[in-house]
Amino acid sequence: MPSERAPLSVVALISGSGSNLQALIDAQEQGAPFRIRAVISNEPNAFGLERARRHGIATEALNHRDYPDRAGFDSALAAAIDGHDPGLVVLAGFMRILTPAFVEHYRGRLFNIHPSLLPRYQGLHTHKRALEAGDTEHGASVHFVTAELDGGPVVLQARVPVLPRDDPDTLAARVLKQEHVIYPTVVRWFAEGRLRLDADGRPHLDGEVLDEPRRIGPGQGSS
Ligand code: GAR
Repeated sequence: MPSERAPLSVVALISGSGSNLQALIDAQEQGAPFRIRAVISNEPNAFGLERARRHGIATEALNHRDYPDRAGFDSALAAAIDGHDPGLVVLAGFMRILTPAFVEHYRGRLFNIHPSLLPRYQGLHTHKRALEAGDTEHGASVHFVTAELDGGPVVLQARVPVLPRDDPDTLAARVLKQEHVIYPTVVRWFAEGRLRLDADGRPHLDGEVLDEPRRIGPGQGSS
């Protein structure tokens, strides 16, 4: 059934290649009910900015090194974002820790994608750490962002097997492929009005509290 509501305006924050950004752009071009209005990078040479330009999306580079401290950068970042009046902000490989004031400002409308099965492996080097721990399963998570680094409520996870001859790069590539499935899925849910964060910080999907994240494995979909 065609949706009556206007597409959700989204601002994406990136630091690097932007392959998750590309997955979101592809989803909107294939009819998902959201529009990325701007892509902002803290790294001026991030390839993701070029991806955005190729699709006619506004870009801005805001180099964090030009600011005296984290709070100064975050308030400039929030001003740049709010100029686009987005209903949602997505962190798509944005490799900066955000201040609590920034996170609070976007409460309930800020998502992150993280390359691990949270709460396992918050922070960096997740693939190496999963291999060193001897895990047989690894994956990625999309979560609402809260002030705790990689700690907000998880909405959707994708699991992948860890194979005997994996190194961090082969494992990362397997996980990244699934990231490109789960991020557009969650942004679509939010854009369709199916997903929200309540006043107590609990995610709701289709009117029900999500006590546990939704999970998909390779080859499975999640509607
Ligand atoms: C992705 O694997 C994403 O999960 C990760 O950075 C990569 C960005 O790739 N994010 C984090 O580690 C955040 N803590 P991309 O630029 O190709 O989307």
